[in-house]
Amino acid sequence: MQTLTITRPDDFHLHLRDGKAMTSVVMDSVRRFGRAIIMPNLNPPIITTKQALDYRNHILACLSEDSGFEPLMTLYLTEDTPADEIIHARKSGHVYAVKYYPAGATTHAESGVRNMKNVYPLLEVLVAQNMPLLVHGEVTDPEVDIFDRERVFIDQVLAPLLDRFQGLRVVFEHITTRQAVEFVKKGPENLAATITPQHLLLNRNALFNGGFQPHHFCLPILKAEEHRQAVFAAATSGHPRFFLGTDSAPHARSEKESACGCAGMYSAHCAIELYAEVFSLAGCLDRLEAFSSHHGADFYGLPRNQGTITLEKRSWAIPATLTFGDKELVPFRAGKECQWKLKQ
Ligand code: DOR
Ligand code: ZN
Repeated sequence: MQTLTITRPDDFHLHLRDGKAMTSVVMDSVRRFGRAIIMPNLNPPIITTKQALDYRNHILACLSEDSGFEPLMTLYLTEDTPADEIIHARKSGHVYAVKYYPAGATTHAESGVRNMKNVYPLLEVLVAQNMPLLVHGEVTDPEVDIFDRERVFIDQVLAPLLDRFQGLRVVFEHITTRQAVEFVKKGPENLAATITPQHLLLNRNALFNGGFQPHHFCLPILKAEEHRQAVFAAATSGHPRFFLGTDSAPHARSEKESACGCAGMYSAHCAIELYAEVFSLAGCLDRLEAFSSHHGADFYGLPRNQGTITLEKRSWAIPATLTFGDKELVPFRAGKECQWKLKQ
């Protein structure tokens, strides 16, 4: 049997939620990843250092003492965030980045930023503190087609931002388009991007295959095949400024299968396995480790993990549902096969 041992990977974009819901999902990530950048879009959002540290304690309380898992906390940026809060966050030693959501762009983004220019003074503080800005890169203008929101964001927001703040480290989160790939490749060393398994493996046909598929609805929305191929090529190219961020975002089945269904796909239960499939399909499994375990840590200025994980090329059936607090969720690939398996 083919096996593959790699340095323990990190997930640079993860939604864990809180409370019982978190308790149901967190071990899926802990078994696979050494660290994860924890998204702050709770309700209410994590806008202060105190909230981030409390949330971190909730996460650690779900884990055994020897789990070795390190949650890397983030602050949710608002137009009212005081500069001191960012300095305080940095000093805490547990907050690693600040997350920019355009107001209204996605789940719990109501308190996000209406105009990037309104937070320019705070971006100066991020530069001074050498803290990365994590960007949900979509415009929210209802006039802009939902499939064009990332492309328009690059021209209207991201390019001017990088011109103005040359020392700011920026992670362009969950990129989905050819234009984003090209922008990151020709961009400066202080610009990188995370890539999700769904944007590597699915195109927008997966939203409508045999009827509407709410469990394939995420934001940014799945794109046309041309874009999936560009993102796939970027991830598997070995380029050091593309790295792993699952954007695993659990929602209860009832919240997804609804007249106003939530955006988000849950992939933590087979995340590294899905990336292994991608690199295997591309014929470059030897590059999985750099994408999953080196590039992100290097960009964030963190030491690479010490331990390893082992994957086996062995097909297994993904459950149709998983427990999610008092409810259930429908995971990525529910009821279908996954080609790689984590060796426990
Ligand atoms: O699909 C998504 N789900 N995209 C996001 O940006 C947020 C996430 C969530 O929190 O559910
Ligand atoms: Zn996300």
